[in-house]
Amino acid sequence: MRLGVLTGGGDAPGLNAAIRGVARRALAEGWDVVGVYNGWGGLVGDGDTRSMELPQVSGILPLGGTMLGTSRVNPLRDERLLRQVEANLTRTGVDYLVAIGGNDTLSVASALARRGVPVAGVPKTMDNDLQVTEYCIGFDSAVAVVTEALDRLHTTAASHHRLMVVEVMGRDTGWVALMGGLAGGADMILIPEHPISDTEVVEHLKRRRALGKDFSIVVVAEGFDLSGMGLEAAQAGPLDEFGHPRLGLQGAAELVASRLSALTEFETRVTVLGYTQRGGSPTAYDRIWATAVGSQAFELARQGRSGLMPAKIGDSVTPVPLEEAVASPKVVPEEWYRLAQAYY
Ligand code: F6P
Repeated sequence: MRLGVLTGGGDAPGLNAAIRGVARRALAEGWDVVGVYNGWGGLVGDGDTRSMELPQVSGILPLGGTMLGTSRVNPLRDERLLRQVEANLTRTGVDYLVAIGGNDTLSVASALARRGVPVAGVPKTMDNDLQVTEYCIGFDSAVAVVTEALDRLHTTAASHHRLMVVEVMGRDTGWVALMGGLAGGADMILIPEHPISDTEVVEHLKRRRALGKDFSIVVVAEGFDLSGMGLEAAQAGPLDEFGHPRLGLQGAAELVASRLSALTEFETRVTVLGYTQRGGSPTAYDRIWATAVGSQAFELARQGRSGLMPAKIGDSVTPVPLEEAVASPKVVPEEWYRLAQAYY
């Protein structure tokens, strides 16, 4: 039997741990393993697939990025591309495919499963917004980066009595902003789920000053709804193949910072954490759970069960339908927002 594995969408720490998790189990059970390079891009056109042996999937557990490369190629754009994916899988003799990715990558996997391709998805997105699963590869590592950055920004903000506006990733949801902000003691967190006016933010910041707190840290998710503050996002360039703008170009933190600075006259600085949140070595938590979901994906292959994604539910890994996982982004629940707010 031959297993194919690919990583699609934005990279994240823990992808190599998941590749190792799937491939090592498959090799130990006597399967051939084929690496598909650069996401779905490795299965369209002439394809780019290469056989993987034990030495290639050894020693990669602590490495960031993805040894298979990634892309945002979307075969759902065109029926011809989907046929190329199917033809390349047949040509390379892949009996079962494991696609590691977020909403976009797993929507393609789900569509392929409906067409009869044997496939499992593995949850990866530092945005943490796949449904059902409590764990997505890369989220914990991203939150750790944000937490450390906020700790560092606190000392310089306090020394200069400044307002620090920190932009973090988060396209449709504010998981990284909320959990990173909570762990790093942010004084206000702006996320897509909770539009808020500039007046409300300013009132809060002035209240803090009145209490003698002469600096503040405001965390802004890049996908925060700027219109609630009467602000207009900068042009975000062309859309990717899945129809997403590059939110990092919209300048959420810059826009929010200049508005707050104009309304308060607080000395204000901006930090955009950007791709540092997706780089570097995975946390222990990401290594452990990436291994667990990767291993379970191989189990699904062994059992010949398709159209599923191993999800972390409580302390267990449970297969759930891919369709459910990608149905809509999992948003930050109100209670978590309120918890962070209680410590502003
Ligand atoms: O989907 C994950 C994500 O990290 C988003 O938070 C972000 O908007 C996007 O990817 C940026 O991706 P890239 O610039 O690599 O296409």
